[in-house]
Amino acid sequence: MSIAIIAPPRNVDSWLIHFTELYPGETVEVWPNITKPDEVECALVWYHPEGCLQDFPNLKMICSMGAGVDHIMRDHALPVGIPITRIVDDLLAKSMTRYIITCILNFHRRFLKYAEDKKERVWDMKNPEIDVRVGILGIGQLGQDLARKLQLLDIDVIGFSRGAKSIDNIPTQHGENEMDKFLSQINILVCLLPLTKETEGILNRDLFRKMNKNTCLINVARGKHLIEDDLIWAIENEIISEAYLDVFDEEPLDIRHPFWNKREVFITPHIASVTNPLAAIPQVVNNLNNARHDKPLSHQVDMSKGY
Ligand code: NDP
Ligand code: OXD
Repeated sequence: MSIAIIAPPRNVDSWLIHFTELYPGETVEVWPNITKPDEVECALVWYHPEGCLQDFPNLKMICSMGAGVDHIMRDHALPVGIPITRIVDDLLAKSMTRYIITCILNFHRRFLKYAEDKKERVWDMKNPEIDVRVGILGIGQLGQDLARKLQLLDIDVIGFSRGAKSIDNIPTQHGENEMDKFLSQINILVCLLPLTKETEGILNRDLFRKMNKNTCLINVARGKHLIEDDLIWAIENEIISEAYLDVFDEEPLDIRHPFWNKREVFITPHIASVTNPLAAIPQVVNNLNNARHDKPLSHQVDMSKGY
């Protein structure tokens, strides 16, 4: 029996090394070099080619190599009835939280302005801080870690989710009816949503129109949440004064993309939080053992919600 890693865009050498160190008894092969497709029980995937999971008749589970599963759900030929799981782990949350807090503090302490001032040798002591109130659109596993750590910094935070949520000491709102109120209360919007049919294109002109002037947008979820032309419109209309983007509609971002020339847009190459194989592999193997014994799996995707 074996585990197949199917991740064409990724270098998976470190995954193979750690699988061998941690679980020498498991056979792990990398697609397309799968010697016995009928022995594959687990497909560990990142942007697998659509339809290829049909080649494994004895598959017991499909596991995302990251937190997001949109790259799996896009496959219209997924084998029916096979559970899908994702990675949820403290290191992933810690790294994401540190990335987002870096963006928030940059905005709060106006570091992009001071970088510009330095170019012109300007010494401007006025208004050194922007008061911030952070809204986390998608207060799930990652959003809750962020919210708790922002509170330790005395930064006001509100969470937003799909269904009603009660999280200790963190105010939350939910559902379309509360969106306008949520947006009116904040001047930093962090997108930590899963990409689904409902959330694709959610960061668009209509939503931006409801935001306060000079809001900061941080998108670390997926590029397809954002209508990129609408962000340029929102910057030109002074609704968004800074945007920190880790994810893009097309990755890598085309060298001719207008974002590269926008002073207000800070770009990182989808590195906000990268899965650590040492933390992820035990989750994968524990879940596989559960699947082998018909036990419930951890962090299983709810197919009705799509995340
Ligand atoms: P979770 O599934 O734990 O949380 C998702 C949250 O979004 C939940 O609170 C959920 O609401 C909410 N949500 C879902 N749909 C809607 C909707 N239509 N309207 C409002 N809220 C909604 O996900 P994680 O926190 O683990 O991860 C979030 C995303 O972050 C991943 O899907 C991935 O795309 C991205 N990511 C990016 C990384 C990077 O390096 N850039 C690294 C890791 C993750 P409810 O609680 O009601 O279900
Ligand atoms: C993830 C990611 O979903 O890295 O984990 O984007």
